[in-house]
Amino acid sequence: MRDHHSRGSNLLDPEPTSTTPSSVRLDRLRLLDALKSARLNPSTATLRRSINDIRSGVSAPSGAFGARGLREAAIFTPELLDEELDQICGAQTLDRARYYVDRLIKSITEVRTSSINDINLNRWKEYDDIQTDSLWLVASRERGGARSARYWGNFVPQIPHQMMRRYTKAGDWVLDVFAGSGTSLIEGQRLGRNTIGIELQPRVARMARKAVASEPNAFGVTSQVICGDSATIDLNKALRAHGQSSAQLVIMHPPYFDIIKFSDDERDLSNAPSVEAFLDTIGRVVDNVTPVLDRGRYLAVVIGDKYANGEWVPLGFRTMEAIQQRGFLLKSVVVKNFDQTTAKRQQKELWKYRALAGGFYVFKHEYIFVFKKTGRNY
Ligand SMILES: C[S@@+](CC[C@H](N)C(=O)[O-])C[C@H]1O[C@@H](n2cnc3c(N)ncnc32)[C@H](O)[C@@H]1O
Repeated sequence: MRDHHSRGSNLLDPEPTSTTPSSVRLDRLRLLDALKSARLNPSTATLRRSINDIRSGVSAPSGAFGARGLREAAIFTPELLDEELDQICGAQTLDRARYYVDRLIKSITEVRTSSINDINLNRWKEYDDIQTDSLWLVASRERGGARSARYWGNFVPQIPHQMMRRYTKAGDWVLDVFAGSGTSLIEGQRLGRNTIGIELQPRVARMARKAVASEPNAFGVTSQVICGDSATIDLNKALRAHGQSSAQLVIMHPPYFDIIKFSDDERDLSNAPSVEAFLDTIGRVVDNVTPVLDRGRYLAVVIGDKYANGEWVPLGFRTMEAIQQRGFLLKSVVVKNFDQTTAKRQQKELWKYRALAGGFYVFKHEYIFVFKKTGRNY
């Protein structure tokens, strides 16, 4: 693996996205001094008084910790800082109060990240925008830049965005082996992740390249779309072309069997002759990506179910099992609501009737299966 963790100075800092409009910038060194001296108080009562002085200093517009003469900034949302100060004041013992002060000092002075992402665990409360629940109700498609809802069967950018924030570091390499219109690549470019997308259809690959090229590339990362079959393409060679021998995240958003026919190409998963053949090809794609994914890293698969001949076909769970059988550890099953298309909205009443008459429930969700590559993978 070559140096994929190296950070250019232009890559993302491991800061929470606390620079929301409501966040406050405080003079970091003064705040640290005040916390350190508060810690030295001999009793909880006097320590509380010092903490309340800090609180007044923070909330006054031109207070002791304000932006005037700022040396180094500590960025907080006011609610969070208040919560931390409340916790210190609410401590029953001096030891406990000092423990909370130490924790607050640490959150200002130390960055603690894991080996798979840039999330600063010392500031974990501030990652409001990172999903940790298994039910995702995504309100609407985030638009902007080159992203559009035009490619039939694309996924919402929030999916690759969340996966890359949770499972990659800035500068990591991500493979999306069903690239379609290039949503993952655009998101990667925005987040400072290198991406290689594989797409079977030359026309769609061209469209994705165009979309990616029209996006700003502030981090100077690589975003390449290769036209090919994900079950057989030489991924080692694709990575080696960039001096890499492995990837740190794989995203798979295959056709949901034959629900949308993407092309006439027989290698296209939407043309698989049966569910078994579909699962077999999914397995071959997983076998192809496994050797180039670093051990301990993640594979995210986005897929929905289908309905045929009056029967629910659990494509999602069958795909999940096929991947588990290859030694991947299942880490999460996320259920995500469908982004309703205009056509579907117009047909809503009709579908309600069909569901009532046919004894079934109308699809409203799809899955994101999150797997980890372990030593068990063959
Ligand atoms: C569900 S779409 C992916 C959409 C993508 N996530 C986006 O946001 O645009 C599936 C894509 O996989 C492509 N595809 C189907 N079989 C393939 C194969 N064997 N290798 C590579 N791509 C394939 C289809 O052409 C289609 O563009």
